[in-house]
Amino acid sequence: MSPAPAIELVGVVAGYGGPPVLRGVNLRVEPGDMVGISGPNGAGKTTLLRVILGLLVPGEGQVRLFGEPLRDERSRRRARLRIGYVPQEQAPGALPMTVWDAVLMGRWGRGFAGPRRPGPADRQAARMWIERLGLGPFAQRDVRELSGGQRQRVALARALAGEPSLLILDEPTTHLDAGARRDFMECLAAFHREAGVTTVFVTHDPGVLAGYARRRLRMEAGRLAPLPVGGTGSRQEAGGREEAADREEAGGQPAAAGPAGAGSGGRASRGE
Ligand SMILES: Nc1ncnc2c1ncn2[C@@H]1O[C@H](COP(=O)(O)OP(=O)(O)O)[C@@H](O)[C@H]1O
Ligand SMILES: [Mg+2]
Repeated sequence: MSPAPAIELVGVVAGYGGPPVLRGVNLRVEPGDMVGISGPNGAGKTTLLRVILGLLVPGEGQVRLFGEPLRDERSRRRARLRIGYVPQEQAPGALPMTVWDAVLMGRWGRGFAGPRRPGPADRQAARMWIERLGLGPFAQRDVRELSGGQRQRVALARALAGEPSLLILDEPTTHLDAGARRDFMECLAAFHREAGVTTVFVTHDPGVLAGYARRRLRMEAGRLAPLPVGGTGSRQEAGGREEAADREEAGGQPAAAGPAGAGSGGRASRGE
């Protein structure tokens, strides 16, 4: 039997009390996939992630994570512990704490919580992710002293320290310059190749999807549609088969017009 989808949304309508922000979203993400969602500011990308995280309860439709419906607060909390989340606002950057503490916090709810203090396994996980993301020399530095790119790597290390089954990133490269953006996405792609953890990231910059997302979707005015695969910049996997599957999933809606060959391209030749 094939494993349950990591994420399954059916007919999700959600918002904040006024007119719905998500207006009938269907999404299916298979375990191990890497899905990138672009779309203009205000389209509902963060709202979509909040629904997946169980932080916003939809008015209509169903949400299942790893085959489990998010039906009450308990199931939402349980599912959330399996998700590594890199939020849009750079949370660790705002707090006066060291890189070490910020990454160790990623173990909260897993290795420790409440009266239970971090143990050797928590410290080992924090140490490992700090090293793997090249943050070793900064471990005792205040997060606020770091560059934007380094802070995002701290946020990623913190998310990964919780050993998530699903990694969710909201505009992970928005505040980074071109070099730091590339470094961060390379880092994320390398981790995904190696560990195969299901990954979903959203960005208002479709250029970031090119070459990194295996499946590319576009959110526009609260609806999801497949993003046409451009000639350059797409990986081999982002071929017609996935596109056809996306179209089916997006309920046969016509694909929103995406920029041709989104982004800088030229990455297709890089070997896996
Ligand atoms: N907490 C909130 N309360 C009320 N409206 C919100 C809230 N968060 C977002 N919105 C509205 O929902 C819409 C979609 O926002 P959002 O999901 O943040 O879009 P995106 O991430 O694509 O930029 C916007 O019109 C925004 O103003
Ligand atoms: Mg957003």
